[in-house]
Amino acid sequence: MGSIHLEAKIGDIAETVLVPGDPLRAKYVADNFLENAICYNNVRNMLGFTGTYKGKRISIQGTGMGMGSTAIYVNELIETYKVKQLIRVGTCGAIQKDLKVGEIILAMSASGDSGANMAYFNGFQYAATADFDLLFRAYQAAQQLNIPTIQGSIFSTDTFYDDDPHRWDKWKKHGILGVEMESQILFTIAKRLQAKALSILTVSDNIITGEAASSKEREQTFMGMMKIALELA
Ligand code: HPA
Repeated sequence: MGSIHLEAKIGDIAETVLVPGDPLRAKYVADNFLENAICYNNVRNMLGFTGTYKGKRISIQGTGMGMGSTAIYVNELIETYKVKQLIRVGTCGAIQKDLKVGEIILAMSASGDSGANMAYFNGFQYAATADFDLLFRAYQAAQQLNIPTIQGSIFSTDTFYDDDPHRWDKWKKHGILGVEMESQILFTIAKRLQAKALSILTVSDNIITGEAASSKEREQTFMGMMKIALELA
């Protein structure tokens, strides 16, 4: 028996799971980086795969966009399938003007506006942080692979579209590097359920300067982020 949104059998999912938002990115990585990958989930087309990388067992599971969808998969992966490490691999919009498209961020913490995160703490603000061990190992892996990374804080939002031109001013001033839509709830739930979590993000656009990635840039930098994440199995 699986969980409500995952049909994998117990044992089909590895202890370390990469969690991209896009299920087709999960398939791309399974097809191109993993050996002997099997697809264990087709429910809602939210594809998930398990295979090996350099001999180590690893899974990659799509979560969909946003914290509502992400929370469902993260909960079920940890509670039902006993996953121990979750590494988000995704993109973010940079809000610091000197951050270029293609740069890779290892997120130390995720501020945000997640309603779930506030409701759970009765309106107080929980500081959602990455697991230090995963963060440290990702940093070491990146150094070894000669892939530059930036360590810092990000913001997770429930609203992609917003018409306030000053929306990010304060966050920018307080050092937030980029904006995405999943990490805050990932960090919170992982901590609550005693799993480790990290987010590795590639800058896909710069909200301040308007710079956006070409498809070639997206492809190349996507590879760098994946290589770092796959080393964490
Ligand atoms: N906003 C939210 N999430 C994102 C963005 C953005 O501008 N770019 C990439 N992910």
